[in-house]
Amino acid sequence: MARSMLITGASSGIGAAVARELARRGWNLALSGRRRDELAALAAELRARHPALRVHVEVHDVTDFAASDALIAAAVAALGGLDAVFVNAGIGLGGRIGGKSFDKQRRTIDTNLLGAMAVTDAAVRHFRAQGGGHVIGTCSVAAFRAVPGNVAYSVSKIGFASYLEGLRAEAWRDRIRVTVLYPGFVKTPIVEGVARTPFAIEADHAARLIVRAIERNVARAIVPRWPWTLMRWVMPWIPARLLARAGF
Ligand SMILES: NC(=O)c1ccc[n+]([C@@H]2O[C@H](COP(=O)([O-])OP(=O)(O)OC[C@H]3O[C@@H](n4cnc5c(N)ncnc54)[C@H](OP(=O)(O)O)[C@@H]3O)[C@@H](O)[C@H]2O)c1
Repeated sequence: MARSMLITGASSGIGAAVARELARRGWNLALSGRRRDELAALAAELRARHPALRVHVEVHDVTDFAASDALIAAAVAALGGLDAVFVNAGIGLGGRIGGKSFDKQRRTIDTNLLGAMAVTDAAVRHFRAQGGGHVIGTCSVAAFRAVPGNVAYSVSKIGFASYLEGLRAEAWRDRIRVTVLYPGFVKTPIVEGVARTPFAIEADHAARLIVRAIERNVARAIVPRWPWTLMRWVMPWIPARLLARAGF
């Protein structure tokens, strides 16, 4: 029987590319995000290419925390069950501490951390009741070290990575698997306007690596593995004055 996944942040970038790759591999999909037109266009494309698949669109803002259970229930109803949830929606607003950007910092935490936690919490409730499931979360290499100019973004990703690691231990007996993704730079709208995006890869390349990690059920995946596996160990040791020049 075909497997099924709900994707948050499916209207663009990594989420859309992962949806295309999963559809190619026979997964039924529930696509969610705030922009109905982008989701509908992607759903139409996937249905045309893969007529046998079930593809559902669910407009949902992850900062509407109270609506998370309804999001999961809608996906379950539309797909006839749910094997996995890809908690991927995120923003990267930027803003320096003390630079009158607190509203951007708060929105970043609301979306990337609290919104991701709310969807994960609802998914886990469903997976516990059905006796298992798979949560996949998009964190970032920005979780390896808070980066100047966008510290709140790093905090959101460090927090979500930690949440997922805790979930893995909590949900071990419930047959709930957890995959934590750490992408490096990927060429998507979120990095438009970012001064430097070293080692950036295309979204479809990232999607192939992510889907491989999901299907192999790995606990953690750095995407791509090189050079970011090395950077994971190097980044904490870079002196602040040098990191300040990186200009991410
Ligand atoms: N690109 C990179 O270099 C990179 C690196 C590491 C990690 N990431 C992470 O990868 C994830 C996907 O980002 P991307 O690169 O694919 O950027 P993107 O193309 O800008 O996609 C972001 C997605 O998140 C959705 N989203 C944003 N706010 C939302 C909200 N309040 N409620 C529901 N959906 C929301 C957007 O959909 P709507 O606007 O339709 O709501 C969109 O589909 C993010 O978590 C990002 O932090 C990206």
